[in-house]
Amino acid sequence: METNHKYHLKTGADGEAQLDNLDRVFGKASREFLNHIGLSKGMSVLDVGCGVGNLTCWLAEQVGPNGRVVGVDNDERQLEVARNRAQARRLSNIIFCKKDAHHLTDMNHEFDMAYCRWLLIHVRNPSVVVDNMANTLRYGGILACEVESSFSTFYYPTFPLYIKLQDKLAELLKKSGSDLDIAMNIFKICKGLQHFSFNARTSQEIIYNLDEAKAFTRNYCLLLDSMKDAFLENNIMSEKEIAEIREALLSYRIDRNTVIFLTRMTQVWCIKS
Ligand SMILES: C[S@@+](CC[C@H](N)C(=O)[O-])C[C@H]1O[C@@H](n2cnc3c(N)ncnc32)[C@H](O)[C@@H]1O
Repeated sequence: METNHKYHLKTGADGEAQLDNLDRVFGKASREFLNHIGLSKGMSVLDVGCGVGNLTCWLAEQVGPNGRVVGVDNDERQLEVARNRAQARRLSNIIFCKKDAHHLTDMNHEFDMAYCRWLLIHVRNPSVVVDNMANTLRYGGILACEVESSFSTFYYPTFPLYIKLQDKLAELLKKSGSDLDIAMNIFKICKGLQHFSFNARTSQEIIYNLDEAKAFTRNYCLLLDSMKDAFLENNIMSEKEIAEIREALLSYRIDRNTVIFLTRMTQVWCIKS
C-alpha cells in the first residue's frame, strides 16, 4: 500500500548533530552487538539507511583494508555528510550510494553482513526491506537489525508534557504509515525468512549521570526542532504546543536522582544457510 511515507527528521548538516548525539548514547551497545554477532576483519558489510555514516565509518575501520563497506541511504544530503566523514578519516574501503531500501536487488549475494539501525520504523514496508537485505547476503552471511521500541523511553520522575511529546510523535509516525510495533513485528518478519536461523535480544541503556541527562534532554529539543515542520504540516501540534513542550524539556528539573530509561532496542540477527 502506498502512503504519504516520509522521513520527518532534518537531514544532512542540519540533522547530523542529532544523529551524533544519539550515537553517543546508543553507539556502545550497537558496536558491542555487532562484535557479538561476528563482525570481523575482511568482511563485506552493507549498512542500509546509513544516515551520516556514524556506524558505517566505524564498520569500515573494523573490517580493515581487506574488507569493504557500502552505506546506502535514500537521502543525498545524508550521504554527502557521510562521504566527507569517511574522507576525513581516510577510509578507502567504503563507498556510499543513494538507494531506496525497498530496492536493493542489484546487490544480491554480495555481502557477509547486511545491517540496519533505526531504519525500519521509517520505511513504507519493513518486510520488503528485510527481504531485500536478506537477498544481498552470501551463504553464511548475517542479517542484523536494530529496531527501536516506541514508547519505551521515559524519564523518572516523569512529567506530563514529556508524555504528550511521546503521544504526538507516535501520532505523526502513525499518520505517515510507520509500523509503531516494528520492534515486535520484526520477530515475525525475520522468522519468516527461508533458510535463515533466527536470534534476538534486547538492549536498554539508562542515563543517571547529571551532565549526560542534561545533554540527552537538550537533544530532545533538537529532535523537536527537527520535527517541527512535520508536526505543523500534519496538524499534530500548533506552534504554541511545540513551544510549551520545548520549554518543559528545558525547565525540567534534572537532579542527581533523575533517571532516563532510553529507548529499548530489539536486536535481531539471522544467519543464512
Ligand atoms: C534515524 S536515521 C538512522 C541513521 C543511521 N542508521 C544511524 O544509525 O545513525 C534513518 C535513516 O534512514 C534513511 N531512510 C529512511 N527511509 C529510507 C529508505 N526507504 N531507504 C533508504 N534509506 C532510508 C534516512 O534518510 C535516515 O538517514
